[in-house]
Amino acid sequence: MAIKHSARGAVDPFIVMDMMRAAGDREAVGENIVHMEVGQPSTSAPRGVIEAAKRGLDEDRLGYCDALGLPDLRQRIADHYRDSYGVDVGAERIVVTTGSSAGFLIATLAVFDHGDRVAMAAPGYPAYRNMLAALGVETVSVLSTVKDRFQLTSELAAKIEGHIDGLIVTSPSNPAGTVLDGDGLEALYRHCENTGIRMISDEIYHGISYEAAPVTAANFEQAIVVNSFSKYFSMTGWRIGWLVVPQDLVRSVERLLQNLFISTPTLSQIAAMAAFDCHEELRENVAAYARNRQVLLDGLPAAGFDKIAPVDGAFYIYADVGNLTNDSTQFCHLMLREAGVAATPGIDFDPFRGNRFVRFCFSGSNEDTQKAVERLVGWHERRRPG
Ligand SMILES: Cc1ncc(COP(=O)(O)O)c(C=O)c1O
Repeated sequence: MAIKHSARGAVDPFIVMDMMRAAGDREAVGENIVHMEVGQPSTSAPRGVIEAAKRGLDEDRLGYCDALGLPDLRQRIADHYRDSYGVDVGAERIVVTTGSSAGFLIATLAVFDHGDRVAMAAPGYPAYRNMLAALGVETVSVLSTVKDRFQLTSELAAKIEGHIDGLIVTSPSNPAGTVLDGDGLEALYRHCENTGIRMISDEIYHGISYEAAPVTAANFEQAIVVNSFSKYFSMTGWRIGWLVVPQDLVRSVERLLQNLFISTPTLSQIAAMAAFDCHEELRENVAAYARNRQVLLDGLPAAGFDKIAPVDGAFYIYADVGNLTNDSTQFCHLMLREAGVAATPGIDFDPFRGNRFVRFCFSGSNEDTQKAVERLVGWHERRRPG
C-alpha cells in the first residue's frame, strides 16, 4: 500500500537547479558548456575570509553558538549598516542565519500564518514563491512590466484585489537586475504601514550595482530585511546570511531558530566576520561583473536578444525572447544543446509570462562571457531561415 506523501513536498522545482543538472549532464559526456544558468559568483570567498576560517579551524572548538548568532558578527553587521548606509541598526536586531534562504523561512514563520496572502512581483525569485507554497501561504503574483522595472511599486500594490498580509520586495531584482529607487521603496513601505502589511525587503544583491546604489529598508521600523554573504561577499557555499528584524520580533525569531536550526554554522560565522575587511577584493569582483555586463549589452542584440530590462544591479540579464520563441524552456534546452550555453527559462521566475523570457547570469569569467556571445551570435545566424 502506498504510504502518504505530504502535499508540501509537491512544491514546484527550482528550475535553475534543474538546468544546472542538464548542463552538468552534457559536460559529463565531454561537451564544453558556458554556465549562465546559476546565480553565483565564480570567484571564491575573499582571501581574508579563508584565512579567518583556517584560524577558526585551528583555534576554535566550533560548537553550537547563540541561536541569534555570534555577538561579534552581529555587531559587525550592525556596523556595516552605519558605514555603508548611514543607518543606525542596533546589533540586538541583527539575526545571523544559514543563508538568506533560512532567513526568509524564519521571517515567514515569524510573521505569516497558514492561509495568509503575500504579494511579490512576477518575475521574482522562485524559491520564495515555492517556500511560501510549502508553508501554506498564498503568493499573490503582481505582474510587473519593464515600465515598472519589473518591481513591485506602491501603485501596483494599491491595486491588489483582496486583503494581503505582506509583501516582498527584491531590489536589485532576481531575475531582472533592476532597482527600485529610494522614493519607490519609501512609498511602498508607507503603503504597508498605512494598511498594516508586513514588508520583507530582500537586499541580497546590495553591493553589486552599476547605476545608483540601492537603498536599504533597514531604517523602516516594521520592515524585515533579508541579506546574505552569498553574492557580493562571494560566499554561497558557506551558507551564511542575516536578517534585520523589528525589535518586537527578536524573541519569536530566536525561538524559531533555536528549534529549527539550533544555530548557524560557527565556522562560517567566524569567517564572515572578516568579510567586512575585504572590500578591496570584493570591489574587483564587481568591476569584473561590470565588464561582463558591457560585453553582453554590446553583444547580445546581434544574437537576437535585443529587448533587455535595465541592468541596474545584480548579475542578471532578463531578455524578452518573444521574437525567438513562445516556449522559453524548450528554447533554453535547445540553446544548451546547439550553442553550448546554459541559461534559465523565464518560466522559473514568472509562471504567467515567463515563456517569453530568458535569464542570463554574468557572474562567470570575462573569457566565458565573450565565448557565450560568440556562440549565441553563431547559433542565431545558423537558425535564421535562408
Ligand atoms: C533574490 C534571492 N534571494 C535569496 C537567495 C538565496 O540565497 P542564499 O540562501 O544563498 O543567501 C537568492 C539566491 O540566488 C536570490 O537570488
